[in-house]
Amino acid sequence: RSPWTVPRLREAKREGRKLAMLTCYDAGFARAIDDAGIDLVLVGDSLGMVVQGRSSTLPVTVDDIAYHTRCVRRGLSSALLVADMPFQSDASPALALQAATRFLQAGAAMVKIEGAGPKLEVIRYLVEREIPVCAHLGLTPQSVLRLGGYKVQGRDEAAAARLREDARAVAEAGAELLVLECVPSPVAAAVTADVDIATIGIGAGPGCDGQVLVLHDMLGLDSGHRRPKFVKDFLAEGGSVPGAVLAYVDAVREGRFPDAAHSYD
Ligand code: KIV
Ligand code: NA
Repeated sequence: RSPWTVPRLREAKREGRKLAMLTCYDAGFARAIDDAGIDLVLVGDSLGMVVQGRSSTLPVTVDDIAYHTRCVRRGLSSALLVADMPFQSDASPALALQAATRFLQAGAAMVKIEGAGPKLEVIRYLVEREIPVCAHLGLTPQSVLRLGGYKVQGRDEAAAARLREDARAVAEAGAELLVLECVPSPVAAAVTADVDIATIGIGAGPGCDGQVLVLHDMLGLDSGHRRPKFVKDFLAEGGSVPGAVLAYVDAVREGRFPDAAHSYD
């Protein structure tokens, strides 16, 4: 496989080729999921929960993401590596530039930023400075205190319209990819039709251009929290870690995952 590049993401969308993404935090799993044909790998701040055992992503630091990005980088050969901007590391353009530069120097090809609004200026600032950005809308876990929990977003008409506006705005600001988390399937499908960058869903239905899951979740590990509806245990059908990742990649490519049982209407 030839290594993924940022411009190829838009090509994939134009060609209708679905993108399979997983989170990853270390070199061993990075090698396994890259070998299984994963397209995109995210060093998510979900590491705060699944690696560090915390109850939210808020305590994760720039040092944490930089460390895990270096670890994952060493295991990858073809997948495109995305690093999460942790809580408040993107509160200003200057702060964001500092953190994002560290992540690209650690081997990431792109950084992920939660939200729109004041983040639009940050996205623009990074993109103008040669730092590709993945946006993240819908349920943004760094907003957990304001939201009062992890809930499906964009359910009523006004919220759906706001989400579609935000999606157009992050694309306009220069984002090259858009994660949609916990959004009703029809709303995510509408956003996907609205923008010419690829959308990557997690709990956002089958109408997105790609899918992402937390590695631990798709391997059936119990996080100690209630398992969200969109999570599927691929180890059960895959029989081994490589088998699970192959099953996931195939299911995403062929549009078999997520189905209605793993989506919100
Ligand atoms: O941190 C993370 O794992 C994420 C994905 C769930 C999109 O942001
Ligand atoms: Na995240």
